[in-house]
Amino acid sequence: MPDALELLETRRTIAHVQLAEPGPSDEEIRRIIAVACRVPDHGKLTPWRFVLYRGAARAALDARLEPLHRAKFPDLPAEKAEIERTRFSRVPLTIGVISRTQDHFKVPIWEQELSAGAACMNLLLAVHALGFAGQWLSGWCCYDAEAAAILGAAEGERFAGLIAIGTPTVPPVDRPRPAFGDVVTEWSA
Ligand SMILES: Cc1cc2nc3c(=O)[nH]c(=O)nc-3n(C[C@H](O)[C@H](O)[C@H](O)COP(=O)(O)O)c2cc1C
Repeated sequence: MPDALELLETRRTIAHVQLAEPGPSDEEIRRIIAVACRVPDHGKLTPWRFVLYRGAARAALDARLEPLHRAKFPDLPAEKAEIERTRFSRVPLTIGVISRTQDHFKVPIWEQELSAGAACMNLLLAVHALGFAGQWLSGWCCYDAEAAAILGAAEGERFAGLIAIGTPTVPPVDRPRPAFGDVVTEWSA
């Protein structure tokens, strides 16, 4: 297992179409979720929850989503439609991170949503630490109310991400990262 800093410096997304079996075991999924829960959470509101899409349920889910997707995007090229038609069944494990916020006298909704983003990021890091790879996805099914309900979002909830997880079939290739000077300013009086 890489040391902590090396882990942070080497994590990189592997596209969902390049993720294959095996996915994490039950035990590893429990560890991943435990790490995802270890995020700052102002007011201890637990403003997120997780949905696992795995095993035989994946094909059933794809089949439920397919007619909705076809109706919404009737002119999609066949290749793209096929990728979408197998969105869940192609990937060993997808974890949906649902943002569930509440009105609170002290904690703005924004902070609760940030905590859900942090949960997504911790989840990706745990996946990497265990030797798997992942991709933080959203897509039409997160934003379409009917599709999001099929995916398990209740009234008032929305998806912070669908994290696709598996074993990489290609080596990671990094992308350019912002230079220090492009993202950092030093405040002075
Ligand atoms: C909230 C959120 C949603 C995203 N949704 C998608 C998506 O639907 N499709 C996609 O190709 N990338 C999406 N991305 C981008 C990838 O997860 C990833 O950031 C990108 O491929 C860069 O990889 P990196 O993690 O190595 O920087 C999303 C990122 C975020 C933060």
